[in-house]
Amino acid sequence: MLVISKEEVKSLLPVAEAISCVGKAYSELSSGTAKVPDRLGIETEKGITLVMPGHLSVEDALAVKIVSVFPENQSKNKPAIYGAVTVLDPSDGRPLALIEGAYLTALRTGASCGFATGLLAREDAKTLTMIGLGAQSRTIVPAVCAVRSIEKVYAYDPDGVVAESFETEMGGEVSVELVDQTGTAVSESDIVCTATTSQQPVFDGAKLKAGTHVNGIGSFRPDMQEVDLEVIKRASKVVVDTISGAMSEAGDLIQAIDAGVFSEDEIHAEIGSIVSGEKVGRENDGEITFFKSVGNAALDIAVANEVLKRALDRSVGTEVDLG
Ligand SMILES: NC(=O)c1ccc[n+]([C@@H]2O[C@H](COP(=O)([O-])OP(=O)(O)OC[C@H]3O[C@@H](n4cnc5c(N)ncnc54)[C@H](O)[C@@H]3O)[C@@H](O)[C@H]2O)c1
Repeated sequence: MLVISKEEVKSLLPVAEAISCVGKAYSELSSGTAKVPDRLGIETEKGITLVMPGHLSVEDALAVKIVSVFPENQSKNKPAIYGAVTVLDPSDGRPLALIEGAYLTALRTGASCGFATGLLAREDAKTLTMIGLGAQSRTIVPAVCAVRSIEKVYAYDPDGVVAESFETEMGGEVSVELVDQTGTAVSESDIVCTATTSQQPVFDGAKLKAGTHVNGIGSFRPDMQEVDLEVIKRASKVVVDTISGAMSEAGDLIQAIDAGVFSEDEIHAEIGSIVSGEKVGRENDGEITFFKSVGNAALDIAVANEVLKRALDRSVGTEVDLG
């Protein structure tokens, strides 16, 4: 079995190149060729561990991701999230690779924002506001920059240390301006991305200008909300990764439905059905579009499979004999 570390994943698959893998996963999700059972979770005293298996028939990729979220770790200077993906041989079930999974998650999340932005943002989008500057933002910004010619990134996070480290890490790639409130930044942006742990809306949807595309990555429980009702009301197209995932986990949409300003029928599309041409993407420069993602194991599997293919081609990773 090949063991592939975080640094090896980074060198094998740049964010920009992960975007097409994610696109294939979304297509398989919407066409029904991906088998992805509901994830299993085990809650223990200090955290929760999730098990996420799946198979992509077209890609012929079989894998299981295990991800643990232990919030108290941060007070001990350890990451809150650890993960690993085991890739299996679809012909005989043999474990082929063990790949570091926390960075791989960020990689596929960034790539999913890049993919949605490529389909839904205005072609001439130049300005991005990034709200929440933690792990996911570090792959979201390069992915958005890979699909649009971004000249300016406004960046906001209430944690000053996190904000400074974002500026240091991203500043070399694109012009970054840290802001201490989101209002002006949002009103001047063509694309707004949210990737926060907030339970309440993180910007005022009334400030969005016509033609803006919004990617909402954070809220993943019915009681969490990152975008306000105004965003949902003003968006002419609400697009999701899967309708079933959105209806069970996407607090932004569930709360809008509870408030009577939105309904499941008003979801424009799963993103995979825009790829297939079954549904249309952006139709004019004035539309506000909203992509709400809660994530899906299909994305992990597609990206892990590509990492393994590249590792084998380039003889990267450490071979371990399991006997
Ligand atoms: N949709 C997906 O596929 C997907 C994948 C991975 C993570 N997530 C979710 O995305 C969110 C971000 O993940 P992460 O790994 O970057 O977390 P993280 O803990 O590394 O970063 C989250 C950041 O959000 C900031 N924040 C909290 N409240 C805020 C507010 N009101 N305004 C602006 N920033 C605020 C925090 O200070 C922190 O820096 C989490 O909710 C996570 O569960 C979604």
